[in-house]
Amino acid sequence: MTKVARLAPGPRGHFLLGMLPAIRKDPLQLLQRLAAEFGDVVRMRFGLVTAHMIACPDGVQRVLVENSKNYGKQTRGFLKLREILGDGLLTAEGEPWRRHRRMAQPAFHRQRLASFADTMVREAERTAGRWQDVAARGEVLDVAQEMARLTLQIIGRTMLTRDVALEADRVGSALTYLLHAANRRMSRVIDLPQGIPTPGNRRFATALRELDGVVNQIIAERRRAAQRPEDLLTLLLETRDEETGQPMTDRELRDEAMTIFLAGHETTANALTWTFYLLSRHPSIGRALRLELEREIERAPSFSDLPRLKLTRAVIEEALRLYPPAWLISRSVTQDDEIGGFRIPGGSIVFVCPYLVHRDARIWENPEGFDPDRFGPERAASIPRGGYFPFGAGPRQCIGASFASMEAQLVLATLWRRFRLDLVPGRRIEPEPSITLRPRHGMPMTAHPWTSDGR
Ligand code: HEM
Repeated sequence: MTKVARLAPGPRGHFLLGMLPAIRKDPLQLLQRLAAEFGDVVRMRFGLVTAHMIACPDGVQRVLVENSKNYGKQTRGFLKLREILGDGLLTAEGEPWRRHRRMAQPAFHRQRLASFADTMVREAERTAGRWQDVAARGEVLDVAQEMARLTLQIIGRTMLTRDVALEADRVGSALTYLLHAANRRMSRVIDLPQGIPTPGNRRFATALRELDGVVNQIIAERRRAAQRPEDLLTLLLETRDEETGQPMTDRELRDEAMTIFLAGHETTANALTWTFYLLSRHPSIGRALRLELEREIERAPSFSDLPRLKLTRAVIEEALRLYPPAWLISRSVTQDDEIGGFRIPGGSIVFVCPYLVHRDARIWENPEGFDPDRFGPERAASIPRGGYFPFGAGPRQCIGASFASMEAQLVLATLWRRFRLDLVPGRRIEPEPSITLRPRHGMPMTAHPWTSDGR
């Protein structure tokens, strides 16, 4: 790194809090405005912390891929998540992370995942069955809630062979509570450390203990079981580190199970919710999708149908471009670096923002438009590295990307084959950027079985 690198430009912000108040109000709009005003590398301050937002493909590559060793996970967001997830794949670093990634990778291999496809379709069919009744009564669905329930059920079944979407299921409800609590804490200006016994902290600790108790019990039962179901937990329990031959300890299994549970459902639920939103706003693409599904699938979709469902796949990819569920990825800078000619000091924070880069007019023609064709074979080749990264990039890229993409395609194919969804007129739909990008007021829609003339 050269000594001549300049300080990046950026806003002044509040004299004490820097950009904290502004980013809490409307982060998407703020970050877009800052990129337009200051360029690809924007310096800002959050209280005492200096942060840089990196909004160009080369910078994204530098942080996530080329110099990824220099960019760690000691950021506020990851530290909060670590209170729940411990040293699972998402939050661990260094050797413990490498070991886990090695051990967990085979469980996420595409061929392995094929065995989960039927479960995904079965659960989506159950949702379709409910929608049939709701549609007949002419009632409104909150598709955001529907997708949250469906993906929670899918991850519960594929990971634990368990019905976690039942109201009474302690895993589902404790985890949902903890996630909301962590989410709230992350957006607070001042947050009391977990050790201080405020009522909120005590509730958090109780929910965490309860969840730990249930998960540990599931792990213990699974270890003893003579016949284990073929789910993700069994795969993790039976995996051995190829270097040391050691299995995962109970603690490691607990952290990994919680991580996959968390990382594996809300993101996919949001991706599907925005997909339905976009299809309802673009009826001609919705009809083309329906035609593909009618042409390519006989009864329920299956794993072997996926290669033929090209538009289905492109629709999901395009929805992930416009509404990337992981809309912001943060890193802590270990040592000084240089990006775009600007100095990135060690000890500071960087953000790379898929939401911004995915809507950059220098990369994307008609960036705000919904155009799944851009992911067709001819045009996809021109997307630069670091220009499209809904699943992150480099060594810390999403381990569940194939799982998620298969799940999203199968759920979309199952539901869109049977129903068209219409937004309820007059409702405001806006993205709320918390840990994931979700619709702030839900997604009220009505479901309509397709008529024989494709309407
Ligand atoms: C559309 C759905 C999904 C999206 C958009 C998504 C996005 C991401 C992103 C951006 C990262 C990288 C975070 C970073 O670099 O800091 C990540 C990591 C991760 N994701 Fe996903 N994800 C999705 C679904 C899933 C699913 C279904 C699973 C598991 C079944 C999963 C498990 C994980 C794990 C364990 C990590 C940490 C990987 C590591 O650091 O080694 N994700 N995901």
